[in-house]
Amino acid sequence: MTELSRRAALASGMSFALAACSRQPAAAEPVDGAPLKSLAPFPVGVAVQAAQLGDPAWTSLAATHFTQLTAEWEMKMEYVVQADGSFRFDRADAIAAFARDRGMRLFGHTLVWYANEPEAFVRLDESRQSFAGALANYVTAMVGRYRGLASGWDVINEPIRDDGSGPRDSLWSRKLGQVGHFKVAFEAARAADPQAVLFTNDYHLESKPAKLASYMRLIEQLLAEGVPLNGIGCQTHLDADLPAGAITRTLKALAGFGLPIHLSELDVSVVGGGLLGDRAGAERRQVALYGEAMDAFAALPQRQQFAFTVWGLRDGDSWLTRENARDAPLMFDSAGRPKPTYGAVVKALRGR
Ligand code: G3I
Repeated sequence: MTELSRRAALASGMSFALAACSRQPAAAEPVDGAPLKSLAPFPVGVAVQAAQLGDPAWTSLAATHFTQLTAEWEMKMEYVVQADGSFRFDRADAIAAFARDRGMRLFGHTLVWYANEPEAFVRLDESRQSFAGALANYVTAMVGRYRGLASGWDVINEPIRDDGSGPRDSLWSRKLGQVGHFKVAFEAARAADPQAVLFTNDYHLESKPAKLASYMRLIEQLLAEGVPLNGIGCQTHLDADLPAGAITRTLKALAGFGLPIHLSELDVSVVGGGLLGDRAGAERRQVALYGEAMDAFAALPQRQQFAFTVWGLRDGDSWLTRENARDAPLMFDSAGRPKPTYGAVVKALRGR
């Protein structure tokens, strides 16, 4: 944090403290807790971990409101690929079975990610062709296993550098080339499931125009090269200080490709970004951003509304709360009660 922003944060903290002395907290308005899935004319998704399937409070709340599940981490290489190169599917199968048994869609996350470089692949010092074969084999095994249940897959996750200067360097791009590793992964996924929508997926597109531009250039290039990419993911992990309108502009820009859009990992931190010290202000902005996210997604052409997915069910389930217990980034509190963030999403849906 720069000196200027540190002073600004302290100043806001002081003004916040003074304001708090002079203003009675607003009585909490009752939140419209109508089931989200009954209001949304498109799939609404939530991230899940296998352990949560054994929590009746989690399973009943999730089944009440959502129609799609995304494995938060147990369908990634970091869990599936063992040191000896074998694959373990136990937790992915449990999540898939839960979705199937409740008539929910499964969304596959994620096949290839710069952040997952399993030892079994790293030590493959064979030729490019055999490395490509090993990656295609993994993709085929994963996508084929959930064919007919997984509605789509994040085939390549987070391909763009945070500074927006271009595609990331990764084990996969080093071994197979930038477009090359996309071709191998997407073509294997397409062959394994001709019906699944195949996505690339990235974050901070709302707050980093250079990253959004670079992401869109990559998508244009991949489509021009004939890569069977037919879905675009926008993770939407936000800080509460994101200016109004940024979500709307970003989804409109991505929708210009005419492909299905997955708002794939929504959460809004109230302890990150520039609103430190103004918790009430951060929560007001958070509510507004949840409403804007749903407004912007619901405004997409129906054929492009793939799914609206939040990255966790209750605040206590969030990766952000694991990082900072003061955060409260989701639509339900840790006791499973709907929050004003949920109310904003319902209001946006009812207003259409
Ligand atoms: O559950 C085990 C626990 O038993 C074990 O003691 C502990 C230490 O090994 O690990 C726990 O599993 C961790 C899991 O989160 C559950 O907390 C994994 O190690 C850890 O790698 C995993 O982190 C996930 C992360 O992606 C990396 O896969 C987060 O839950 C998940 O929220 C995060 O999600 C990413 C998306 O995939 C891509 N977009 C960004 C998003 C947030 O970083």
